[in-house]
Amino acid sequence: MMRQSRFIHLMIISTVALILSINVGMAATPSKVKIMADACLTCHGPNGMGSGKIPELNGLEKSDITESLFGFKSGDEKSTIMGRYANALSDDEINRLAEYFGGLDK
Ligand code: HEC
Repeated sequence: MMRQSRFIHLMIISTVALILSINVGMAATPSKVKIMADACLTCHGPNGMGSGKIPELNGLEKSDITESLFGFKSGDEKSTIMGRYANALSDDEINRLAEYFGGLDK
């Protein structure tokens, strides 16, 4: 009887630890995207609204953004500066940034 309750106690503790570690992992993903996105916003304006000659990102669909960024990266889409930025991004980062900007309040 004693042994069994100790076993249940262990099970509860390890389940809680597992849930906590999953939460930490999930919280880390959006904040990394947010940090990268903030760097984009130094040019693309607050909340991606554009600034001067720099086009706005706010209002674009996720698919528009991936298309542009993969185009800049491959060189198929001509750019003055975005080619350099897109080159530094992994395909996964491009997808996650596009998801982020595609989801901004329009
Ligand atoms: C140094 C300024 C600068 C930074 C930083 C920057 N951009 Fe740009 N972005 C531009 C300019 C300028 C253009 C227009 C294309 C060109 O000439 O490079 C552009 C174009 C784009 C476009 C195409 C928009 C359209 O409507 O055609 C997308 C998408 C984009 N940028 C996404 C990003 C993302 C995502 C980041 C962050 C990883 C980023 N940009 C960082 C300046 C910048």
